[in-house]
Amino acid sequence: MRKKIIAGNWKMNTSLAEALSLIGQVNLSVQQQTHPLLQTIIAPPFIWLTEATRIAVTTNGLQVAAQNCHHEKSGAYTGEVSAAMLASCGVKSVIIGHSERRQYQRENHAELVQKITRCFEEQLHVIYCVGETLEERDTNRHFETVKKQLQEVLGEINAEHASSVVVAYEPVWAIGTGKTAGPDQAQEMHAFIRKELQTIWNAEVAQNTSILYGGSCNSGNADALFSCADVDGGLIGGASLKADEFAVIRNIMISKLA
Ligand code: PGA
Repeated sequence: MRKKIIAGNWKMNTSLAEALSLIGQVNLSVQQQTHPLLQTIIAPPFIWLTEATRIAVTTNGLQVAAQNCHHEKSGAYTGEVSAAMLASCGVKSVIIGHSERRQYQRENHAELVQKITRCFEEQLHVIYCVGETLEERDTNRHFETVKKQLQEVLGEINAEHASSVVVAYEPVWAIGTGKTAGPDQAQEMHAFIRKELQTIWNAEVAQNTSILYGGSCNSGNADALFSCADVDGGLIGGASLKADEFAVIRNIMISKLA
């Protein structure tokens, strides 16, 4: 069975006090309620990662991810953070290609391939984000966009590394907007992504790759989304900043595993 994953992307939120409180609460809820097939991940800002790994390390089933890394190994890149630095402080995975970084930092596909390669050099897993804009969906180009995002990036990654990749489908029009893809839309795109992974790698890898949904996922819509055959969990933004809400979303995923 594919691994189920609930990942919280905190984005550029939380003070130190808020981060410590949230890490502590998530840590506690994972200790109280977990499942061997569920992986819980939190992705706080870089500056809180050491605290997060220090606290999370004691917990079964809670992993810490970074929201980004630089594409070069090390050197004169003021203000940047390398994959090696992340690995050295206990981070296990990195979110790569989030639409906010594609948009605001102009990250291109060649750079994303380099970032993923750096992660693999450090034995880090990758949560690779794809998703179309509203304009692309409205003009019926959503499959074309996602196919390109998969082919031009994961197409450059050898199948031997595929087990270190999780894909997150995040329609840009649903991120932070309160609009969610309906279960039919999510299932349709997740099945499409799985078919593309089969073309890029092979059928076995495609079947074993977890594909997460992201974009205004919350306790109200998680049940319908997680009921879809090809939705293996969620990449949660806003709702991951509230410990209670995040715990409810985790419990909904656990109920699917029972
Ligand atoms: P959201 O963000 O849940 O706040 O829409 C999801 C994401 O961008 O990862």
